[in-house]
Amino acid sequence: MKETIARKVRITDTTLRDAHQSLWATRMRTDDILKIAEKIDAAGYYSLECWGGATFDVCMRFLRENPWERLRQLKKVCKKTPLQMLLRGQNLLGYKHYPDDIVERFVALACENGMDIFRVFDALNDPRNLEKAIASVKKYGGHAQGTICYTTSPVHTVEKYVSLARELRSMGVDSLCIKDMAGILTPGAARELVGALVKAMPDMPIQVHSHMTSGMAAAMYLAAVEAGAGCVDCAISTLSSFSSQPPAESMVSILESVGFDCSLDRSLLAEINAYFKALKAKREPASASRVEAVDAGVLVHAIPGGMISNLRSQLAQQDALDRLDEVLEELPKTRADLGYPPLVTPTSQIVGVQSVLNVLSGKRYSMVTDETRRYAAGYYGRTPAPIEPKLRKKLCGSLKPIDCRPADLLKPGLVAAADELPPNTIKAEEDILSYALFPEVALGYFKWRNADPAKRDPIPADVEEASRAAQPSGHSQASQASQPAPASQASGPAPSGTPVPAPLNGTFYRSDAPGKPQMAADGATVKAGDAVCVVEAMKLFNPIKAPAGGKITFLVEHGKPVAKGQTLAVVG
Ligand code: CO
Repeated sequence: MKETIARKVRITDTTLRDAHQSLWATRMRTDDILKIAEKIDAAGYYSLECWGGATFDVCMRFLRENPWERLRQLKKVCKKTPLQMLLRGQNLLGYKHYPDDIVERFVALACENGMDIFRVFDALNDPRNLEKAIASVKKYGGHAQGTICYTTSPVHTVEKYVSLARELRSMGVDSLCIKDMAGILTPGAARELVGALVKAMPDMPIQVHSHMTSGMAAAMYLAAVEAGAGCVDCAISTLSSFSSQPPAESMVSILESVGFDCSLDRSLLAEINAYFKALKAKREPASASRVEAVDAGVLVHAIPGGMISNLRSQLAQQDALDRLDEVLEELPKTRADLGYPPLVTPTSQIVGVQSVLNVLSGKRYSMVTDETRRYAAGYYGRTPAPIEPKLRKKLCGSLKPIDCRPADLLKPGLVAAADELPPNTIKAEEDILSYALFPEVALGYFKWRNADPAKRDPIPADVEEASRAAQPSGHSQASQASQPAPASQASGPAPSGTPVPAPLNGTFYRSDAPGKPQMAADGATVKAGDAVCVVEAMKLFNPIKAPAGGKITFLVEHGKPVAKGQTLAVVG
């Protein structure tokens, strides 16, 4: 039967968030965006995704811009098309759970400054981590889009996804998103999942988000739309494909060829693309040219592209790049042990680093990061499948497992954050939120902003671009600057006793968090197995245990770089 009226399918543009995060290390600037925003606004998109964790962080850290100001400026220009952001539920834009008062104020200010649609997700698909953010979006008049993080495992079934969707509906979401961050959703699975959702809740709008990493996303979108999805995420062609979204121009042709109407202005799309094509030479980092067009490996190991490049750089920091294949083999096993979490921030980081440690230490879980410990104890939420009890006990160590909503344990944080800020640092309430989310980064930005403009340090992104321009060969210096060259052993007679060696290259700390008291005082008596210090590597804090009991003597200063095998302390 031939349809007489073409069904409308809408397209969300991800160029201003996910696409430049995936391909340009999030280096697009507010000025870059404003120069083309009027045309993007007029093109006929359903929404413009323009804010998320990395955009917010990079704005302050590398571009020395205020992310709130970007939002206001963009809103001034975009009068037709709703603005959209990606929000990590109770994690907001960060990597940990924030107290409810911070979640609510962040959402309120985002709404006030022009954000319209909030795509709210949780890495574990734990509804308890979504409820406060969704309720806040509804309270302040935003559109709440509930998210299903898509992954495959023995416990992730269509029925489970539909039951999550029902929970999201009961929280009052306005639409649903299937978020396929790894690009592993096949056309067949999309047809089945979207079909089941449409059947269960025929009036609920469904949007699909994917990445072209494995090459399947455009075909998958078509299947999803045919099964009833009403909106898909695309990027303008220059910023599409590879690990980004499918190209908007091609998707319009695909969908219209089978009778759907996308209502996008093709001539405007061409103008927008010409603009980004010209911008690419300036903003695309040299490393982008090394990305493969299609990573067929994803079809086998289902590991998101961004995660593999992280693993590569983590292994490089440990002089162990040759062990990447072992880590790729270990990773699915670690993920299974940890109850099959979807691999998305922050679980991708937890599973990735733990897999690296499982390989490098030679004995699985002989080294457990603090994050793995907290994850196993329930501080990130409920794991999709339970962790085997004996392993869970081992991973938790002395940390008591919890069963409640993790944020229930947090005291209000807004006033405390404001109190922590040095006087005359901030200009508005939004600065307190920026600080609560990214303390170090925000302080660095405030300091830069408050300095005399004539005496400010150069903008880090300008420095990067200048150094790239000076190296026309396209070979960027490997950016391992954050890691020290192996330090030589301290000279002089070493105190006798049992040595406590550094298990990894990294930074040595005597306490387990900035500003916290020392874990063991120099000269104190410790028991075998006590955590006595920390080596920070791969952005995670790895507690180091005393190999024996006795008096401890530290040989390294707090905050100094250490090399694998270096003696940190002696006990005895
Ligand atoms: Co994405």
